Amino acid sequence: MRLLRWLSAFLLVTLAAAASAQPTSHPAAPPALHAGDQPFHRGVNVLGYDPYWKDVAKRRFEWRHFREIRAAGFDFVRLNLQAFKFMDARNRLDPAWLAKLDDVVRHAQQAGLGVVIDEHDFDLCSNDLIMCRQKLPAFWQQVAPRFANAPRNVAFEILNEPHAQLDAAAWNGLFSQMLAVVRHTNPTRIVVVGPTSWNSLKELPTLQLPADRNLLVTFHYYEPFHFTHQGASWAGDVKSLHGITWGSVADRAAVAADFDQVAAWSRANDRPILLGEFGAYDKSGTPQDLRVAYTAAVRSEAERRGFGWSYWQFEGDFIVWDMVKDRWVEPILKALIP
Ligand code: BGC
Repeated sequence: MRLLRWLSAFLLVTLAAAASAQPTSHPAAPPALHAGDQPFHRGVNVLGYDPYWKDVAKRRFEWRHFREIRAAGFDFVRLNLQAFKFMDARNRLDPAWLAKLDDVVRHAQQAGLGVVIDEHDFDLCSNDLIMCRQKLPAFWQQVAPRFANAPRNVAFEILNEPHAQLDAAAWNGLFSQMLAVVRHTNPTRIVVVGPTSWNSLKELPTLQLPADRNLLVTFHYYEPFHFTHQGASWAGDVKSLHGITWGSVADRAAVAADFDQVAAWSRANDRPILLGEFGAYDKSGTPQDLRVAYTAAVRSEAERRGFGWSYWQFEGDFIVWDMVKDRWVEPILKALIP
């Protein structure tokens, strides 16, 4: 009995000594983003207009495309979700749709890609604020918890391109409410947010952000719009334009000057930048060499300033992947990843 007591005392002392010999572990600093950080580097927008969401049998995008995207040198996708139409009268998302979302994120991750989960009901939201104030929080209440344990390279983008009724004041208010919804289950998840007027860089000064260190600020760039959207049916007056060229010294200087403005804002506000969309429409006859020159210039001006970027878009229109030929559009791909 005495031996037993002695033995257990010995054991206790030895264990305590071993424990105190461990290097003192400091609690890890909470993650934080600052100007110049690039949690995402080279990305592409995917699945925004794919029949997958309605009818899996009609899908164009397959899981192997994630592997193609990774192998080509991209490190993330921006996943464009038009989820409102999959909500019932009480704004509950269809469980089948949620399962499809889980599948997409899982397969992207298995391919080694980060994912920016982008709520893309921007026209619906911007044109009907009353509806948006119901559906957008319902979306994030249901979607955010599903990814509470996801790795750092899964990010949430609250809403693509706010505009119209979502002017600066309305958007700043709505965004901080949405961030609170997300923070409930995802205290340090990277949240992507851009200014009103379709994420225009000109509106960066109107963006008022909560004191939260895990925000990644985004803008979209389609300037000059009469070049990038010439002949595009949804582009207002620009839809009847054709034959607009791009590539002069002045054209290039304009991109550089615009991006300098973004970089200056980023430094002044200590926020990192993601150029979430850019590209030039491909279905109205704009010569490919002009689109390639434009795409390469925008991409490299972004990288020069330390912005992450995601090209608009993988396939459908503005394509970098040709679904019919089942291969990359090499010149556009080279413009993105030389
Ligand atoms: C929209 C697309 C459009 C693209 C370029 C995106 O945000 O969702 O419908 O083609 O911008 O205009």
